[in-house]
Amino acid sequence: MSDKTPVLELRKVDKSFGPIDVLHEISLKVHAGEVLCLLGDNGAGKSTLIRTLAGVHVPTRGQILMDGQEVVFGKPKDAADRGIATVHQFGGTFPLMSIGRSFFVGVEPTKGWGPFKVFDRETANAIAVKAVQSFGITRIDDGDRLVGGLSGGERQSLAIARAVHFGAKVLILDEPTAALGVKQAAHVLRIVNEAKRRGLAVIFITHQVMHAMAVGDHFAVLIRGAIAADFRKGEKTREEITDLMAGGETMADLETTIEGYMDTHQGHPPPSPAP
Ligand SMILES: Nc1ncnc2c1ncn2[C@@H]1O[C@H](COP(=O)(O)OP(=O)(O)O)[C@@H](O)[C@H]1O
Ligand SMILES: [Mg+2]
Repeated sequence: MSDKTPVLELRKVDKSFGPIDVLHEISLKVHAGEVLCLLGDNGAGKSTLIRTLAGVHVPTRGQILMDGQEVVFGKPKDAADRGIATVHQFGGTFPLMSIGRSFFVGVEPTKGWGPFKVFDRETANAIAVKAVQSFGITRIDDGDRLVGGLSGGERQSLAIARAVHFGAKVLILDEPTAALGVKQAAHVLRIVNEAKRRGLAVIFITHQVMHAMAVGDHFAVLIRGAIAADFRKGEKTREEITDLMAGGETMADLETTIEGYMDTHQGHPPPSPAP
C-alpha cells in the first residue's frame, strides 16, 4: 500500500503567524484505505496542521500534494472541492436542525442535486437515514429528529457518514472521541474503520493512545510543531507511544520528579494538575 502515490502528502510545510513559528518542516503521507493517527499534547500544533490541510491557513513554506500533484488551497472551499472533509469534535453540527436538513447543509443544489432546489424533506430524510444506517447506526431512523437530541457519538457518526456520502477522499477527524465515554468512543472507532474499509484516507487526531492504536495504520507524533516520530502499526508499544507524546519524558523520569517533590515536601504528593 505504501508504495502507491499518497492521496495527500505534505512536504516540509511550515506555518508561522507573524513572528510565531507554529509548524516546522512537516512532511507526511496519507494513503487511501489507511488511517494516519496524528498524536500530540495540547499546543503541539495539531489543529494548526489540520486547518492548513483544510484550507483555513495557507502554509508559510512547503507544499501540499494530492494524488501527486501540488495543490494550493486559498480558502476552505478549495480543500472541500478536492474532497478534504473535516469533522470537528462535536460533529460541527446544528443542534436545532433536523438530521435530514443538516445532512444537506452547504451542498450546492446545482451540482446534480435538482430535487433539492426546493428542499425535499422526505427525500432528504430518506437519504440521510440510509447513509447513517449504512455505517451501522440503526438507532437513527427518523430524519425529522433534531441533531441536538443525538448523543455525541451519534453526531460524530452523522458527520462522518455525511462526508463519505458526498464523496470525501480524505477525512480529517479532530479529536472525535475526546469528549465521549467508552461505549460511544468504541462506536466512533468502528465508523472510522468503516470509512477506511470504503477506501478513504483518514487523519485521526487524538491524544488518547488507546484510541489511536485501535484504528491506526500509521502514526505521527507532533511535538512543538515538528514531527518527533513517524512509525507504522506494530512498531511501537503503547508505553513507547505515551512516552513519545510526553516529549521524551518517560514514566521513570516522572516518578523521579514526584519522589523529588515528596522529599522536599515532607512526603506530601504534588497537587493534581488543574483539569
Ligand atoms: N492564529 C494563531 N496565531 C498565533 N499563534 C497561534 C495561532 N493559532 C495557533 N497558535 C499557536 O500555535 C500553537 C499550537 O496550537 P494548536 O495548533 O491549537 O495546537 P493543538 O491543536 O495541538 O493543541 C499554540 O502555541 C498556539 O498558541
Ligand atoms: Mg487542537
